[in-house]
Amino acid sequence: MKHLLSTDGLDPAQATAVLDTADTLKRTLLGREVRKLPTLRGRTVVTMFYENSTRTRVSFEVAGKWMSADVINVSAGGSSVGKGESLRDTALTLSAAGADLVIVRHPASGAAQRLAGWLEGTGTGVVNAGDGMHEHPTQALLDAATLRERLGTIAGRRIAIVGDVLHSRVARSNVHLLTALGAEVVLVAPPTLLPTGVESWPVSVSHDLDPELPALDAVMMLRVQAERMHGGFFPSAREYSIAYGLNERRFNQLPEHAVVLHPGPMLRGMEIAAAVADSPRAAITEQVRNGVHVRMAVLYHLLAGEEEAA
Ligand code: CP
Repeated sequence: MKHLLSTDGLDPAQATAVLDTADTLKRTLLGREVRKLPTLRGRTVVTMFYENSTRTRVSFEVAGKWMSADVINVSAGGSSVGKGESLRDTALTLSAAGADLVIVRHPASGAAQRLAGWLEGTGTGVVNAGDGMHEHPTQALLDAATLRERLGTIAGRRIAIVGDVLHSRVARSNVHLLTALGAEVVLVAPPTLLPTGVESWPVSVSHDLDPELPALDAVMMLRVQAERMHGGFFPSAREYSIAYGLNERRFNQLPEHAVVLHPGPMLRGMEIAAAVADSPRAAITEQVRNGVHVRMAVLYHLLAGEEEAA
């Protein structure tokens, strides 16, 4: 594996190998005071974020540092991007400066794929840390790691992805990965927040959350992406919350074992009630924690996996 751009077409065996590595890393580092492995010493990882991020950016930086890679953070505001330099020239500059891996978040769908094309033949790999409404593959991997940890298996589980599917790269990456791993996925959203062509996705679709709840093994609440709704928000925030918010009444309709996920950042009180988000059956903090180990595993497979296997 040289790049991680998408979960669409990701071999389930390869995804499982990443999840297994993440699990081993988590168990290896558990309880250690110094959480540092020498595996990626001498490797250089550059994060390049053209959109805001807390979880993804910090966990990639922590992951790189715990693997002993040199991690350099470039932000659009503090770099020559602010002087008008193109994404292509920025990427080629970072590669020429010694980046082994560029981790990119960009508002344009397809940006990570383009970057990988421009860097072909340079030896620099690319990880998609979220491109527009397209994909967020490491989020799906950390969600799968969390579900596996909580439920034991993913195959055969019924998982609802609820809310603003239209604008959600998290939803797209999770649909590809979870169905490839054998889960049954149901998308629950108002018709206005579903993409055209959803009928051809390997999922079922519902506009009504309540009847779905008793049969679910997990419910993944999505962030409402107001920044991508240039024409306004329909239904209104209040209507959305009434119809699709995971409130305490709905939470109580879920089976005892069901897990609640949210990729964050979350709008408490609108997408999810505070009492639900803070319940021990919600795995939202665990998702962030697993994000570090999953991203360590991704760095390992991209930068050291083949070398170790050779
Ligand atoms: N889930 C997620 O991508 O969060 P950030 O935007 O904070 O990275």
